[in-house]
Amino acid sequence: MKNRLLTKMSGIISSGIFPLLIVMTRRSQQYFKGVSVPLTDTPAPFYEQKTMCRGTIYRLTTGGPRKGPRKARRMAKTLEQVQTELGDCKRCELCETRTTIVFGVGNPRAEVLLIGEAPGRQEDLGAEPFIGAAGKYLNELLAIAGLERKDVYIANILKCRPPGNADPLPHQIEACTPFLREQVRAIEPLILVTLGRFSSQFILKTDTGISHLRGKVHLTGRYSVLPIFHPAAAIYDQSKRPLLEHDFALLKLLIEKRHEELGSRA
Ligand code: URA
Repeated sequence: MKNRLLTKMSGIISSGIFPLLIVMTRRSQQYFKGVSVPLTDTPAPFYEQKTMCRGTIYRLTTGGPRKGPRKARRMAKTLEQVQTELGDCKRCELCETRTTIVFGVGNPRAEVLLIGEAPGRQEDLGAEPFIGAAGKYLNELLAIAGLERKDVYIANILKCRPPGNADPLPHQIEACTPFLREQVRAIEPLILVTLGRFSSQFILKTDTGISHLRGKVHLTGRYSVLPIFHPAAAIYDQSKRPLLEHDFALLKLLIEKRHEELGSRA
């Protein structure tokens, strides 16, 4: 038994897989080392190094040979197809109080997808995300990142307004977010900017508060995720403005960095 184990281990080492794993793991850790971005006196790390490295090691060491044929990736739907599937949605009770479904707006091939919380009163009436007071401030913030509304795509966790702008409830998020996921797949952005607690926690699958998440770039799957305070928060609490402005400046750097890494998309 012991002998068989030793033979197997020496086979793995001599096959070159073991050294390759170590080299690849070291390389990826070096490559993804956090980069400091001293925009203000609180430097912001570019990548959540722990998440990155853990993710990389996990992929390298648990991949192993596949037992069956690789499943083909399902073709992404177009935004039009997603909207058609959503239809005149009655999947939760918000359909009874909404005026319109606020699907999303912007460049269908955007590199930056902003994800808010839920439509407010203005958005419910105008069928477009972020057209109220928070939206006006968002436009100013986008300019800091060198962006205009037409450059990005904007969507929300919920597509219908919760009465009284209540927080999204778990069953509402569950009913609505499959359509957000399809939107992300259709657009294939480079960067997800999550505005506020609900979208940040949903995208990053975490319970960590937005104050801890913001100001850092996180990686999930193929996307860079930049969690930011919700612009509406800065309307009530002016002390959040410098932090929001810092994070949109960080977004500008992140876009440049992704361009350098990947080359611009046509
Ligand atoms: N707040 C949001 O989160 N989304 C909107 O569309 C408007 C305000």
